[in-house]
Parts: sequence; C-alpha cells; structure tokens
Amino acid sequence: RVHAIGIDIGGTKIAGALVDEFGSIVKSERVPTPAGDPRQIEEAVVAMVQSLSVGEQVAAAGIAAAGFIDAAQSTVYYAPNINWRNEPFRAVLEERLDIPVIIENDANAAGWAEFRYGAGRLYSDMVTLTIGTGVGGAIVSGDRLFRGGFGVGAELGHLRVVPDGLPCGCGARGCIEQYGSGRALLRMANEYADAGGIGQGLAELRAERGELRGEDVAQLITAGDSGALAALRQLGHWLGQTAASLSAVLDPQVFVFGGGVASAGELLLDPIRTAYLDHLPARGYHPEPTFLVAELVNDAGVVGAADLARLSTSQK
Ligand code: BGC
Ligand code: NA
Ligand code: ZN
Repeated sequence: RVHAIGIDIGGTKIAGALVDEFGSIVKSERVPTPAGDPRQIEEAVVAMVQSLSVGEQVAAAGIAAAGFIDAAQSTVYYAPNINWRNEPFRAVLEERLDIPVIIENDANAAGWAEFRYGAGRLYSDMVTLTIGTGVGGAIVSGDRLFRGGFGVGAELGHLRVVPDGLPCGCGARGCIEQYGSGRALLRMANEYADAGGIGQGLAELRAERGELRGEDVAQLITAGDSGALAALRQLGHWLGQTAASLSAVLDPQVFVFGGGVASAGELLLDPIRTAYLDHLPARGYHPEPTFLVAELVNDAGVVGAADLARLSTSQK
C-alpha cells in the first residue's frame, strides 16, 4: 500500500500523519512548534516525515502552512502570524527528503479534507472558514480547489469587513480575521469582562486565572455563561455577514466552519445563519446554502495535505 504524509504546521504544534488513499490516518505524531526561527520548524518537519516513513512506502508529503503560498506550491510568500517571508520551503525539504513535497495553505488543506471526507462531501461547491489564531479560507468550486492566478487566492481571512478597522497581521486594516478569529473572540470576551453586567462571569474567571485564555472562554460557553455566549454571538455575527458577501461571489451550496471554536456547534451556527440572512443580497429569493461545522476538526489539515500531495504526484 502506498501512503502519503501530511504535516500541519500550527502556531502551537506541528501535527503529522501517515494517511492512506481513503483519507484514514494510519499513524500520527505531534510536537510543539519551535518558536521563532524557520530553520527549527524545518528540522522538526524533516524529523517527523522521516519517522513516519520508517518501514512504509510513501508517495509524497504535503506540508500545510498558515500563509500565502505560490502557485508552484513551493514558497511561503508571507505568513501574517508566523515569521516567514519568501521561505523556499519545498526546495529545502526536497533536498533533505527523498520523496516529492508540496507546500499547501493550511486552510486549503483542511477545507479539502472536509470536501473529500467530511462535512462537504455531498457538495460540489463549498466554502470553508477555519477559525483559529487567524481566519483561514478554502474554496471548492465545481469539485475543484480554487487557488487563484498566483496561488494565493482563498485568503478569505483578509476580506475587509470594516473600512479602516483594526490593524491585521497582513498589513491591511479591518480584515475579518480581526473580528472572526479565536483571538477576536478572546478580545470580545475581555471587552464583556471589562463592561461588567453580563460579563460578570468572564470577569470572575479572568480574576481567578490572571488572564482569560481561549479554553477559559470555551469552558464558559459550555457552561452557558451569558457573557461568553454574547461574545460567541458577536463572532457569529461577523462571520455570517461575511458569508453573505461570499455567497454573492462564490455561490456555495454549503459553508463549513472549522477550527477550535466550531466545537460550539449550533451555538455558533445559529448567529451565523441569522446574520447571513440579514445581509444576503436578494434575500428571500436567493437559494439558501447549508451551514455546518467541520467533521474532521483537528485531523483536517494533515488528511487534506496528504491527499493533495498524493493527487499532485499522481498527476505528474
Ligand atoms: C493566513 C492564512 C491562513 C489562516 C489560518 C491567515 O492569517 O493569511 O494563510 O490560512 O491565517 O491559519
Ligand atoms: Na486558503
Ligand atoms: Zn488581514
């Protein structure tokens, strides 16, 4: 059996897996992401590919990275939340590994996995928004992953939703990433905590913990705390109105929301749907897409990267 390897480089951890041709994980590994230097990330990726390959026939490796990747799937031009600028990742890795390597945008990889094996599998036209440190996007149109003319399309996190709004890691202002990401949820939760009132529960937990972390907000959401739920609704509101604009351009049959926050399920989808309908052009006459949360969740990046790597080598 010939497998492919998928590696997902995240802000906190690097996940890797050996994946079969049906998208199932055969074995997996994870290590914390080394801080700062791209060279150390490179070392960690090489070590992981080598160790996952022991005793296996591996067709290719796909590396999912959180940034703008060129059309040749070789270079990370820019990463808003990591220190990568024009990183020739593929050349460096291929020199050290004896299998073909492709570099893929992390959200494209995750979206592709949902399309092939997860929440999007019954559709031909899908938009995925992955909500983490940033907001990642994936577009499948007519069963194909959309990459754009230079490879850097589907950067949906950098759609401008607020004219001259909050500064973004991409260098622009007012991007949905600043209003619809996990980081944004934390900021909004802190704003509720500062304001008192329904933010009381958040304020108390913040005082107890010293600061609010993502998992604290998640815990209060699960507990039904009104301030945490209000912050989540605000997040959903931003994402829903963005989805309405995306419908005008891409007309997907399904929107899939991934990333840690998506585990909130209906609590997140409900405000998204409401805001979507409130802002949808031709409302009432425009066919309504389906809104789902991701199914592969934490495995989506590695499964999608492996699948895309396998497909790209079988095309050659
Ligand atoms: C980056 C994307 C990435 C997303 C999710 C954004 O800031 O521009 O390339 O897919 O974060 O990690
Ligand atoms: Na993308
Ligand atoms: Zn931006």
